[in-house]
Amino acid sequence: MSSTLPRHVAIIMDGNGRWAQARGLPRAKGHEAGAESVRAVVRECRKRGVEALTLYSFSTENWKRPPEEISALMTLLKQYVLQERAELMEQGIRVRVIGQISRLPLFVRKPLGVLCRDSERNRGMVLNLALSYGSRAEMVHAVRQIGQEIAEGRRDPSTISEQTISNRLYTAGLPDPDLLIRTSGELRLSNFLLWQLAYTEMYVTETHWPDFREDCIDEAFAAFSGRRRRFGKTDAQLTED
Ligand code: IPE
Ligand code: IPE
Ligand code: MG
Repeated sequence: MSSTLPRHVAIIMDGNGRWAQARGLPRAKGHEAGAESVRAVVRECRKRGVEALTLYSFSTENWKRPPEEISALMTLLKQYVLQERAELMEQGIRVRVIGQISRLPLFVRKPLGVLCRDSERNRGMVLNLALSYGSRAEMVHAVRQIGQEIAEGRRDPSTISEQTISNRLYTAGLPDPDLLIRTSGELRLSNFLLWQLAYTEMYVTETHWPDFREDCIDEAFAAFSGRRRRFGKTDAQLTED
């Protein structure tokens, strides 16, 4: 069977806390180990020719976590941006962020902004970091923009199409994800890309994120290539196409 590569892969990187707890370590150690998985998975996806990788790194709901944990996560994020910069640039990776970026502390926002700008022309793979991201907040943002266009007489409501909405989401310009991976076994979306995941193939593994490495990508991609994506059609219609 010929294997089909997902163009856009989205990952809910879950289970850092459980990974740490199982080892009697503080949760922050789980996040540190998780950052190693990010490195490995970014490299692997790039190597395989994935066009876009979206990583759910911090949700709007995660702001409700204890301040010490949020602080550890923000510090880790800054370190990731600074330490990975050279390799990301070398691999031609373009870094983008989606989410309520203005809520991030300046010490994260600044180096992140520099990396996004400096990597703008890279064409190897898009690494899309979902930070302070919530799908419902993203939709509210889009609806407000469209509402504003109508209020100012620049748009007639009858011209609003699915594309109009897609174009106003933070992910504008990216294809919808083909494959969604969630680690650590939970069977929910946790406010991630609700619009964009309409026809995405889902793959859930019990493996905690810090243990998710290259071989796990192998398994997830193999599962994906065995899927029949019907998009509402019948199986027979697919064979005719
Ligand atoms: C995912 O791991 C990382 C973030 C949400 C930032 P968790 O921290 O949610 O780990 P669990 O779910 O508690 O094991
Ligand atoms: C989802 O994980 C958010 C990220 C992976 C960044 P959570 O651990 O926050 O999800 P819930 O709260 O268990 O659904
Ligand atoms: Mg979790």
